[in-house]
Amino acid sequence: MLSKTDASAAAFAVAAVVFFLIGGLLTTVVPPLVDKTWGKPFENSDPSKGPIGKLEPYTDLERKGRDIYVREGCWYCHTQQTRTLLADTKRSGWRGVDAPISTPDEFVYDSPHMFGTKRTGPDLSRVGGKYDAQWHKTHFRNPRDLVPGSIMPPFPWIAENPEEFDAMVAYLQKLGRAKDWRPDHDYEH
Ligand code: HEC
Repeated sequence: MLSKTDASAAAFAVAAVVFFLIGGLLTTVVPPLVDKTWGKPFENSDPSKGPIGKLEPYTDLERKGRDIYVREGCWYCHTQQTRTLLADTKRSGWRGVDAPISTPDEFVYDSPHMFGTKRTGPDLSRVGGKYDAQWHKTHFRNPRDLVPGSIMPPFPWIAENPEEFDAMVAYLQKLGRAKDWRPDHDYEH
């Protein structure tokens, strides 16, 4: 039957659409049906961790920070997904501890998600707790004061606006914390 596609453009087009749809269904619709954990917020199944290690919904402040993240287009340059690559787990890691790989259950409250596509700056999926608020303030004011040669633009209007700054930092400190992987919890918010 497929040999017809050699001779007929219409048959080729139909076959192409059918194969495309099969591929689409297998990669988008089928996985969450097979693995039900995808739609549930992450929860640590290790009881020794106690109550820590759970994905909580965004607070109003964090949500406001997320809106600023969207408004300012931080996602043009920053992704939010630690992929299954050693380079990613090392880059998102901290103090010799490799960061856990991102899993779908960490993003159930993200709508739309901020995975991003372009890694001009470092991935931010595990940045929560990495720096304190003062670091972020200096960095937003002028990234090059902290990271010589940084090509991140300054965002002084965030640094100088206490309400926006607090919201932004609350959001950044939340990123990737559900898994509670950071040694000594680092900077709690
Ligand atoms: C033009 C691209 C670009 C944009 C837009 C941008 N950044 Fe960056 N960002 C970078 C680059 C490059 C770095 C790495 C150098 C540095 O730390 O300054 C970085 C670093 C960072 C870091 C430190 C990450 C780490 O692990 O050390 C944070 C946090 C951050 N950016 C947050 C933001 C936020 C929040 C916004 C939006 C308000 C934003 N960035 C917008 C390019 C960008």
